[in-house]
Amino acid sequence: MKSLVILISGRGSNMQALLEAGLPVEHIAVISNNPDASGLEIARRYGAETSIVDHRAFPDRQAFDRALAEKIDTHQPKLIALAGFMRILSDRFVQHYQGRLMNIHPSLLPAFPGLDTHARALQEGIKIHGCTVHFVTLQLDHGPIVIQAAIPVLPEDTEKTLAARVLQQEHRIYPQAVRWFMEDRIRLDANQVEIVDSCVNEIALYSPGLPE
Ligand code: GAR
Repeated sequence: MKSLVILISGRGSNMQALLEAGLPVEHIAVISNNPDASGLEIARRYGAETSIVDHRAFPDRQAFDRALAEKIDTHQPKLIALAGFMRILSDRFVQHYQGRLMNIHPSLLPAFPGLDTHARALQEGIKIHGCTVHFVTLQLDHGPIVIQAAIPVLPEDTEKTLAARVLQQEHRIYPQAVRWFMEDRIRLDANQVEIVDSCVNEIALYSPGLPE
């Protein structure tokens, strides 16, 4: 059974995009480290199995990560998708899921790893911003890039407007990346990702291109 586990901490709009995408999976489970994450209610509405592993109940990161991995492994997932999961994961956890742990990040990595990406982008005066789906490796917000979407930064942009336009693109590229993975169309070789049979779409700048 092809199964997907989505990890969230809050709003869950990327999770929702994944749940709405009609992905080729038989089972989707959503796990939150935050019992108050509003995404949990959305997940339930979509019929996904939900659970909570509250990081505050554990003495340290290692203990939390062990409990999280135990919960994840009950679903035997082909892929684990971090969707606004705001906990730093231990090396051991990342190594355990190497090659099947994906993340969405609100910048064109390797620019602006970490937090407050939109504010920092505006501060730097960059003209092109965007988002990235990548495999998770030991270095935070690095790792082989699966797909990116770029948008122009407009003169009137605020942190809020920029975040909203980037988020729209996040909702397009994350389901695409997960679909490719589930269809076994992603070849991962060292730091390079190759997508089998991808093509270009002209609505935004995507690399690699989305199917028409
Ligand atoms: C998204 O913009 C996602 O890219 C970002 O948090 C937001 C979560 O929103 N993730 C990170 O910054 C991870 N480093 P969502 O809960 O509505 O998907």
